[in-house]
Amino acid sequence: MQRVFVTGATGFVGRAVVHALRADGYIVRCLVRRGSERDLHGLGAIERVEGDVLIRRGLAEDIAGCEAVIHLVGIIREHLALGITFENVHTRGTLNVLEAAVEAGVRRYLHMSALGTRGDARSRYHRTKWAAEEAIRASSLSWTIFRPSVIYGRGDGFVSMLARMVRRLPVVPVIGDGSQRLQPVAVEQVAEGFSRALALPGTVKQAYEVGGPDAVALGDLLDLIGEIVGRRRVLKLHVPLGLVRRTTRVLHPLPYFPLTPDQLLMLEEENTCDPTPFFSAFGMTPTALAIGLRRMLAP
Ligand SMILES: NC(=O)c1ccc[n+]([C@@H]2O[C@H](COP(=O)([O-])OP(=O)(O)OC[C@H]3O[C@@H](n4cnc5c(N)ncnc54)[C@H](OP(=O)(O)O)[C@@H]3O)[C@@H](O)[C@H]2O)c1
Repeated sequence: MQRVFVTGATGFVGRAVVHALRADGYIVRCLVRRGSERDLHGLGAIERVEGDVLIRRGLAEDIAGCEAVIHLVGIIREHLALGITFENVHTRGTLNVLEAAVEAGVRRYLHMSALGTRGDARSRYHRTKWAAEEAIRASSLSWTIFRPSVIYGRGDGFVSMLARMVRRLPVVPVIGDGSQRLQPVAVEQVAEGFSRALALPGTVKQAYEVGGPDAVALGDLLDLIGEIVGRRRVLKLHVPLGLVRRTTRVLHPLPYFPLTPDQLLMLEEENTCDPTPFFSAFGMTPTALAIGLRRMLAP
């Protein structure tokens, strides 16, 4: 039986990936930061090693004995005072994991990137993910890269926040005209892709753009959520982009302010793709957005 090393297992996507790996019969070893252990409850018998991808020392020993590495760690919000920056976590963290994997003699490496990642992206989130991808492509490992659009499911950050606003607010604020399109994909399908990739040599040295079958404008996504949660009409307040930018610049350090300047840059651009190569490579039927959301938002 193969043993797989997973970083970011305590996160929203990580928990689903661990679940898929266990269902496919893999032994899973998770890198867990001190204090995050409780987030692994309910995932059954898994091996745990304490560590942090920003600390290179000891990482190769942690990985030794595994046949593959799945690197999921990423952040959406920086904490400058703690040195938790996009450059450190996305790029330096990936370099640490790559080096440690090579040192530990692991060949197979699966990487979580994000749709829109490119060298000349406006957001540092995307540019630092690109730098990580470049290091992976230059490595000697048998890599596969996944670049998802928004991932949804119970416990996610984005769609759950929209659903909370639709349920609770009389009027839901929308950035600009709300016409920017996303292509939300169900977390179970992303997780399944990672797990299946381990047994599919044809996916080596491939990067997959990952989205669900439906591209949807932000305003229409709110309406769809409204329909599902039984809110007949979702009233929207279109906040001009300039005002959202100024407010975000000032308020983003507050922990409960829902947006960061980088997130806003990403939301300002279309985030869609052709997911056909992903679904055909991994032999999956895409879950329609309305069906996936109904499952997620069911009481
Ligand atoms: N969610 C989406 O819509 C989406 C879309 C595209 C791409 N992605 C990418 O998918 C990945 C997972 O996202 P997510 O939504 O699952 O995020 P999440 O819930 O915030 O999980 C992040 C994970 O990374 C871990 N982590 C953070 N810094 C770490 C460090 N220095 N050392 C070790 N572990 C560390 C966290 O551990 P703790 O529990 O200790 O904090 C947690 O397990 C990220 O790379 C993200 O960029 C997500």
